[in-house]
Order: sequence, then structure tokens, then C-alpha cells
Amino acid sequence: MQITPLTGSHDRQGFDCGRDELNIWLRQVARQHQTKGLSKTFVATLDAEPSRICGYYALTLAELEGRHLPLAWRKKLPQRIPGVRLGRLAVDVRHHGKGLGELLLMDALHRAQRIQVEAGGVGLFVDAIDERAAGYYQRFGFQCAPDNALLLFLPTQILA
Ligand SMILES: CC(C)(COP(=O)(O)OP(=O)(O)OC[C@H]1O[C@@H](n2cnc3c(N)ncnc32)[C@H](O)[C@@H]1OP(=O)(O)O)[C@@H](O)C(=O)NCCC(=O)NCCS
Repeated sequence: MQITPLTGSHDRQGFDCGRDELNIWLRQVARQHQTKGLSKTFVATLDAEPSRICGYYALTLAELEGRHLPLAWRKKLPQRIPGVRLGRLAVDVRHHGKGLGELLLMDALHRAQRIQVEAGGVGLFVDAIDERAAGYYQRFGFQCAPDNALLLFLPTQILA
């Protein structure tokens, strides 16, 4: 399995993760956002079928209000806090339950770490699509914002 930036040679139409909003975002928005510099999408493909997307995630730079962080982390920080946001994570239904979601998440964490080495940032933020997805991220050490159970945070100390 390879994880590389999304390009025009990837088949976005054939991707189905079981959630329309995530399929449509990949088909209609991901490339436009990438061209405009709003986010960057990375796709997992098999060597045998390099155009077929098995899974994807998208990263953006983020600035969050301190109130979204757990109290212990928010101390001595300014009101607006920089980080990296994992906007979307999805795996094609043909590949569910084989660890690809975890592989993509680890790849996203490594990229976030590299961004933070070069530009700073307090951690990785994630918008979970629902409570079940929030539970998926919690397995990896993400913690929910005190005011929003679908906004989760993994601090830089854990990323490092
Ligand atoms: C959530 C998702 C990315 C997980 O990818 P995956 O490759 O199937 O996951 P992994 O193989 O790494 O892990 C499988 C585990 O995730 C759990 N899981 C599967 N779908 C899940 C979901 N939608 N939410 C939370 N957990 C989920 C499975 O129950 C399984 O648990 P187990 O290890 O106890 O059996 C994938 O199911 C998906 O794309 N779902 C639709 C889109 C979505 O809900 N995205 C959430 C991010 S916003």
C-alpha cells in the first residue's frame, strides 16, 4: 500500500466509504481545495491498481480557540492556538476492518509532526463525523474538547 498526494490520475468517482458526505467531498471538493491551497489530500493505493483509491485523509493548518482545549493544556497559552487539522479520514468499504484507517491516521500523525517541527503548533485536531468516529480516534489517545465531543485533540508531546 502506498500513501501519496491526491492527483488527477486517481479515480475519485469509484471511491465509496459508506458515507455520502465523505465520498462527495473527495469527488467534488478535494482537488479544488488542494489547488486553492485550502487543504491537502493524501490517498492510499495498491501497487497493482494505482488509480483506485482505497482510503484518504485531508490535512489543513488550523487555529483554534483555547476554550476547545482541556483546561490543563490551555494554561499559559494565548486565546488562539495553532495546530494541524485532520479534516477527513475515510476507507473504501472493500477495505474496512483491515487496519487501513489506522495506517492512514499514523501517516497523518507523521506529517503533522513534520509540519510542527518546521512551523510550530500544539497538536493535531480532528473533526469526527459522529460519536462512533470520535470513539475510533480516542483509541489512539485523542481527547474530546470540553465543549464539543466531536472535536478531538492529540497534543504535540504525544506526536513527538
Ligand atoms: C472509520 C474508518 C476510517 C475506519 O477505517 P478501517 O480501516 O475500517 O479501520 P481499522 O481497520 O483501522 O480499525 C477497525 C476498527 O474500527 C472500527 N470502526 C469501523 N468503522 C468505524 C466508524 N465509522 N467509526 C468508528 N469506528 C469504526 C471497527 O469496529 C474496528 O474495530 P475493532 O478493531 O474493535 O474490530 C472507516 O470505517 C470509514 O471510512 N468509515 C466511514 C467514514 C467514517 O466514519 N470516517 C470517520 C472519520 S471522520
